[in-house]
Amino acid sequence: MIIDGKKIASDIKREISETVTEMLAAGAKRPHLAAILVGHDGGSETYVAHKVKACEECGFKSTLIRFEDDVTEDTLLQTIDKLNNDSDVDGFIVQLPLPRHISEQRVIEAIDYRKDVDGFHPINVGRMSIGLPCFVSATPAGILMLLERYGVPTKGAECVVLGRSNIVGKPVANLMMQKHLPGDATVTVCHSASRDIKETCRRADIIIAALGSPGFVTADMVKEGATIIDVGTTRVPDPTRKSGFRLRGDVDFDAVESKCAWITPVPGGVGPMTIVSLMKNTLLAARHDIYPV
Ligand code: GUN
Repeated sequence: MIIDGKKIASDIKREISETVTEMLAAGAKRPHLAAILVGHDGGSETYVAHKVKACEECGFKSTLIRFEDDVTEDTLLQTIDKLNNDSDVDGFIVQLPLPRHISEQRVIEAIDYRKDVDGFHPINVGRMSIGLPCFVSATPAGILMLLERYGVPTKGAECVVLGRSNIVGKPVANLMMQKHLPGDATVTVCHSASRDIKETCRRADIIIAALGSPGFVTADMVKEGATIIDVGTTRVPDPTRKSGFRLRGDVDFDAVESKCAWITPVPGGVGPMTIVSLMKNTLLAARHDIYPV
């Protein structure tokens, strides 16, 4: 059966907007998310536009700060410093990837971890890995929410994560092995140097595919009754579309769907949940729930 990320995301956005209405009625200020976007990468433009729209739906204020590709690292760091010190801004993100002349790590570490609603700062990553309150990065948090809302059993389950990126693979593997639910799973991480990936996947009760390799997970890799979470969003040419492309996941959906207990589509699965997790983190930041002042 298909996991409807779009519907869950829309339900959660409604819950958030109700909370914001209550906050405002109680005299609190409107939650405020800022986003820095560098350049004109098509994917990044789309993601940031979706984030701004989600802010409106949740009743948040949003500010978009744009720079051209040739912005200096110094200018970016100064902008981050301003946002760190702007008491009206509760949380902010710097959309990745950045141009090659800018150090993503330096940029991430310049963000005040208390406003790091992307959960990319090493303090948040470290706190997450030892199970302390923190901003959990949006895609892994969105995946866990889907597993929870669809009642997918995770305790003691064999969970195979494909990919070891800092944004998805590593944190989701970490969360899935933590002693809480959803989680408490036996986690295996496969990556470009792994042997016998097919064999490993065939044992999995849950596969989380985050490789960026369209159609990588084929029917012969999937156990009957498995749950599949597809994080892939590669743009592939499609002349029938106005845009000239469509998004393709890491899973051969048509061949795999009938074997699965649950499967996320692309688009409409993990993507909308990622944005909603960012909104949740922004609300937590505005209320100082994670890091009290
Ligand atoms: N690029 C791809 N995913 C993300 C994300 O979750 N946050 C940011 N800032 N950049 C991204």
